[in-house]
Amino acid sequence: MNIQWFPGHMLETKNLLKNSISKVDVVLEILDARLPFASENPLVENLCKDKARLKILNKSDLADPEVTEKWLAYFEKQRKIPAIALCGSQKGQAAKVLNYCVSNIQRNRARKLRLMVVGIPNTGKSTILNTLAGKKIAKTGNVPAVTRQKQRTSLKNNVDIYDTPGILWPVIEPEERALALAASGAITDAAVDYYEIGFFAAGLLLKKYPNLLLERYSFLQDIPKDETLLIEEIGRARGCLKKGGIINYQKASEILIRDLRSGKIGKISFETPKDIESANETM
Ligand code: GTP
Repeated sequence: MNIQWFPGHMLETKNLLKNSISKVDVVLEILDARLPFASENPLVENLCKDKARLKILNKSDLADPEVTEKWLAYFEKQRKIPAIALCGSQKGQAAKVLNYCVSNIQRNRARKLRLMVVGIPNTGKSTILNTLAGKKIAKTGNVPAVTRQKQRTSLKNNVDIYDTPGILWPVIEPEERALALAASGAITDAAVDYYEIGFFAAGLLLKKYPNLLLERYSFLQDIPKDETLLIEEIGRARGCLKKGGIINYQKASEILIRDLRSGKIGKISFETPKDIESANETM
């Protein structure tokens, strides 16, 4: 799948990041805990190389907790970048971000501590900001690219925080990465083919979480042998049929994707640090 979704406002955001990074004390990079590697933006990685950073694995309530622990260890030990996992809408968890920054970031104490939130679309940047502020400041939504401008908010403990629009990069490769991002909801649905991402999600679930499939789709007698059979079974059981009883693969794939995104299938991680190492070895 070739995804081309780099609208004008993302280019503007890239320039905005370039100009703003030097003015803040720490960059909070919001990743999706289900796919911390795929959701790490190479543009941000490049721009923030020499900057104090905190990787935030958000939506950890949707991710496999054991895998999340492995990701935290990977960032801390292999990449030497501090990382925490949280659910952005929970006050006590979001507060970990401020505690970390206030205690660990070197700064000019004559002025406020400046934080900047960056990341790809739909990872929960605005949600975290709103939770930290204790009120709704930034628009949130379950579609990518809701935030369109940089916004500054003053928090209680002498901290200013800047929210920025979600940004992707012009060419997303390899294909699995684009598919994982699309399946997670980071890419606008208008730019993706549901059947293609449904097929990808079916393969991922059959390989990594077959028992969760059996629990969620109780109509499954056994684990389907392949992706097409899984999508067909869902289509049949949920009445996604075209004239003549032909399965509507598009609709059945949509059901699978929506269930996956909302956590109805269970806590799922798309990738592990080991998967990434193995992919690098075969390149
Ligand atoms: P853009 O404006 O596209 O850059 O999005 P954003 O990164 O600001 O994301 P936003 O805060 O709008 O959240 C996207 C969706 O994810 C919303 O539906 C949120 O309710 C949901 N969300 C955010 N954080 C969490 C979380 O920790 N767990 C779960 N389950 N959902 C979350």
